[in-house]
Formats: sequence, structure tokens, C-alpha cells
Amino acid sequence: MNKNLRKPVIAGNWKMNMTPAKTAAFIEELKVKVAGKNECDIVLCVPYVDIQTAVASAKGTNVKIGAQNVHFKESGAYTGEISAEMLLEIGAEYVVIGHSERRQYFGETDETVNLRTLAALNAGLKVILCVGEMLDERELGITEEIVSMQTKIALKDVSAEMLKNVIIAYEPVWAIGTGKTATAEQAEEVCAIIRNVIAKLYTKADADATVIQYGGSMNAKNASELLSKENVDGGLIGGASLKTEDFTIIVDAAQ
Ligand code: PGA
Repeated sequence: MNKNLRKPVIAGNWKMNMTPAKTAAFIEELKVKVAGKNECDIVLCVPYVDIQTAVASAKGTNVKIGAQNVHFKESGAYTGEISAEMLLEIGAEYVVIGHSERRQYFGETDETVNLRTLAALNAGLKVILCVGEMLDERELGITEEIVSMQTKIALKDVSAEMLKNVIIAYEPVWAIGTGKTATAEQAEEVCAIIRNVIAKLYTKADADATVIQYGGSMNAKNASELLSKENVDGGLIGGASLKTEDFTIIVDAAQ
């Protein structure tokens, strides 16, 4: 009913793939394929070292560039980390926060996800905030509890004004990189749960305006069914974002 209040966002998450040279070649190809397709926002979240090349290649096109993480402090003794100010200065507009791979392999917690979200929003970045249950949690029947808790903690101290720059990505961990996509019904059910959590934390109007993506083995074949669902406003795409053909088909599905 309210789907047309929201502009879909199709975001690629390249993970640890592509060098700067490959980034430039990819965007040269992609920008031609997606030219004029303005019914959705198109974002590529690339490795830190690819950002400047990506921004230069995407200049003047409808492709926007983001990072895959950001530190929560403004500056200081945090060896190996990157701040929001650094990302903004090199032209990044978006940042993925709380991806399950960060949670699983790099000790990310709901609390650090919240701190990173606040730092990014305060600096002026748009945040793609990832939540999602593990397979055993789904099997235990606690998906709703897990996803609600992750969403609530991540949005602690985020004002309604700041929420306008937040996209939520529902990514069931069991579907990421496994080829095992959630059914459109499963994706819709959990995206609706998340929207409900936002309505309770803020207002129904805020919830209706919030973009909620699905991510987890979304590809050229299943995208249009997933994106047709009322509460699925786009996708966060890993593997299929590394091929311009596949990524373009997903962009077309969101048009
Ligand atoms: P996938 O990754 O599309 O390769 O499953 C999605 C993600 O991790 O964001």
C-alpha cells in the first residue's frame, strides 16, 4: 500500500573483491548499462582502496559509491581503522554497517554497530544497516526477537531526522553467499516485522518512509519476485553485484 512512498535502493556489496583497476573497468561498463535508470538508487559499496577510483569513474552518472565499514571514533590511536570524515572527503556517500561477516569474523556487536551508525550519521553519511538471524535462530523460531533486538540496539539515540539517512538491510545469515535465498514470503515477513519495530520506535510515517532491503543470494533470477513484495524496497547484493550483466538485471527488476 505504501510501497510507492519509497524509492528502491539497489546496492552492491563487493566485499573483499576488485582492485582499483578492475573497479574503473567495471564502472565504465556498468554506467552505460544503467544510464537513465532512475526509478531506483544505485549504489556500489566497495573496498576502501577502491573508493577514490570508483567515485572518479562514477562522476556524473547515477551510480553512487559507499564503503563497507567505518570506525566510530572521529580520529585517534585506532591502527588500521577508517573514520567517517575520511570517507566523506574522498567522496563516499554510503556505508554498510553491521554486516554479518563483520559480526561473525571481526567481533562486531550490536553496541559497536550502534556506535558506528551514530558516527556515520553525525558525519553525514547514509547508512545501510544490516540485521539478520542465523540458521539456528530461525530454526528455534526466534527470528522476530533477534531481528527486532538488533534493529532496536542499532538505532539507539538515532533521531527521527537521522533515520531519514538509514536504510535497513534484512540479511538472513543462512542466505548470504550460500545460494540459499529466502523465499519472497520469508523476506516480506521479516521486512514487515522490521518496519513494525521502526513504527513503534518512531512513528508509522517514519516507518513507511524507511527503505528496507533484502540481501542474501539475491540474483538476476530471483530479484523481481523478491522486489515485488510490499515491504522489500531494494536489495543488498554480494556475489551478483560483481558482474555488470547480473547487477543490471537486478536494477531493471527494481524499475
Ligand atoms: P550474497 O551477499 O548476495 O553474495 O549472498 C549478500 C551480502 O552479504 O550482502
